[in-house]
Amino acid sequence: MLAQLTSEITGSNEDAVSDSRPGYAVFGNPIKHSKSPTIHAAFAEQTNDKLIYRAVRVELDNFESRVRSFFAAGGLGLNITLPFKARAIAMADECTDRASAAGAANWLMPLEQGGIRADNTDGVGMVRDMVANQGWTLAGRRTLIMGAGGAVRGVLQPLLNEGPGSVVIANRTTERAERLAQDCRGDSNIDVSGCGYEALEGQTFDLIINGTSAGLSGELPPLPSIELSHRCCCYDMVYAAEPTVFMRWSAAQAAWAVTDGLGMLVEQAAESFYLWRGKRPDTAAVIHDLRHLLSH
Ligand code: ATR
Repeated sequence: MLAQLTSEITGSNEDAVSDSRPGYAVFGNPIKHSKSPTIHAAFAEQTNDKLIYRAVRVELDNFESRVRSFFAAGGLGLNITLPFKARAIAMADECTDRASAAGAANWLMPLEQGGIRADNTDGVGMVRDMVANQGWTLAGRRTLIMGAGGAVRGVLQPLLNEGPGSVVIANRTTERAERLAQDCRGDSNIDVSGCGYEALEGQTFDLIINGTSAGLSGELPPLPSIELSHRCCCYDMVYAAEPTVFMRWSAAQAAWAVTDGLGMLVEQAAESFYLWRGKRPDTAAVIHDLRHLLSH
């Protein structure tokens, strides 16, 4: 069973140095329900690494100073969650291509020569969950991704790297989808387009990803009648104790495979851990135990 180590710390960062174990944390607001400390404690147990990983609620007006003081106090790595991912990349001195394509960072590390390196592990986490854990093939797939906010922007480049046949970004606000499609088309010759939901009428898809926040208020994006191919896979980027509205819709359309984003959460954490520690944890056992925790 996973250790229940989630703690919310709102005070100073002195803990990063007062504890002799290497210090990591996730910064966000709110942060109370973060599963990251639990996940990283499980990884550290697997790899025999003695480290500390805390969840820290950071006030909106002092994110940058908290990051700097965390690293100045000896902190070794940070994950960044809502609402700070864009501010995290803005303060970085060096960033990976995938973070710059995402326009956001969920991973920070101090550079040896001073300054901060930023990365984004969300997209690779989602792709690894789909390919390695679910056994889905992404190459050649007619892909629909719903939503055009930060969550979708964050995963598009790693998704395109898998070589889907085409990608349609559909969004309630059409211009946002068109702009995002334009931004991520880049040099690739994959057909990427943006549209409103009504334009999807009658189209057929092999992979449908829900990257909207509609499910948080129990809603489904306003999909018209579309075709799911007989091997269609449906992926909700959020997760919950119960199947989400989108998962229930997918099952009702007789989708071939349906899952939520719990595996993505664990895989993005595993990539973070690997980038900091050079060791790749086994994610299956952690996803299994988290699923159990969620349902109790
Ligand atoms: P995030 O960082 O989680 O992506 P966001 O940038 O606020 O958050 O984006 C939320 C996404 O969910 C947007 O694509 C939003 O559509 P709009 O751009 O039209 O606002 C989408 N969304 C939220 N509620 C929705 C709903 N009820 N139906 C359809 N789309 C919804």
